[in-house]
Amino acid sequence: MNRVKTGISGFDELVEGGLPEGRSFLVSGGTGTGKTIFATGFLVNGALAGEPGVYLTLDERPELIREDMLRFGWNLRKLEDEGVLKIVDGTMAKLGIPSDEEFSLPATGFDLDKLLLELMRAIKKIKAKRVVIDSIPALGLNFESEHEIRKAVLKMIYLLARAGVTTVFTTEINEDSKQLGKYGVEEFVADGVIVLHYMGLGTQSNRTLHIRKMRATKHSEDLHPMQITDSGIKVKKVEDDYNL
Ligand SMILES: Nc1ncnc2c1ncn2[C@@H]1O[C@H](COP(=O)(O)OP(=O)(O)OP(=O)(O)O)[C@@H](O)[C@H]1O
Ligand SMILES: [Mg+2]
Repeated sequence: MNRVKTGISGFDELVEGGLPEGRSFLVSGGTGTGKTIFATGFLVNGALAGEPGVYLTLDERPELIREDMLRFGWNLRKLEDEGVLKIVDGTMAKLGIPSDEEFSLPATGFDLDKLLLELMRAIKKIKAKRVVIDSIPALGLNFESEHEIRKAVLKMIYLLARAGVTTVFTTEINEDSKQLGKYGVEEFVADGVIVLHYMGLGTQSNRTLHIRKMRATKHSEDLHPMQITDSGIKVKKVEDDYNL
């Protein structure tokens, strides 16, 4: 099995060298736990290593993502211009506002099939190998029932698998929930689940990363200390905890 290196510091060695190629993975966690930074790092590292990537944003406007990610030294605009990264804007349609992005939905409203067509168009255009969907809860806002959301997620996973890309979905969980995703379906259809935690302890914050599931992989089962730094996410070994 081919492994796709995320290039995220300290992560790949926890999963036998990388994510199984062509599958879908969840990065799950509460707000501010680093899901978007993890997902963007996965795309940018790929783009720089000859594996183009597509970022479907349903949450934050593309302009804000480009701006925020500069903090980590990631110039998305430059990678877009070089044709190794594309952003699909799934945010504006639901507001009925036209987007001036190259890949977006018409301002007539949300339409899953149009969105999937746009996503596939972007994937084809740059021959993408990696995809990020950020986020499932934001996608879910466009649907009336959980049943429809589940169907939408399943359809997306199926199409992405057929396109042969390796996909990272972000999703949200409540810290006290037993579920790993918001709709209780993502975790079963995903080939792996990475859970990010954040705990504020006094004046210290404490971030961890836990691989909850990774099919076809002997993975670390530890709660790994994790940091967000100016160069993105750094995952540590448990024994390094005291040297943070
Ligand atoms: N330069 C930085 N150095 C250290 N920590 C940072 C830096 N920039 C952002 N952070 C931390 O990263 C968090 C944001 O990470 P990210 O956007 O990936 O979270 P998220 O899980 O996607 O959140 P959301 O649920 O809101 O989408 C911030 O709340 C902050 O704690
Ligand atoms: Mg986010």
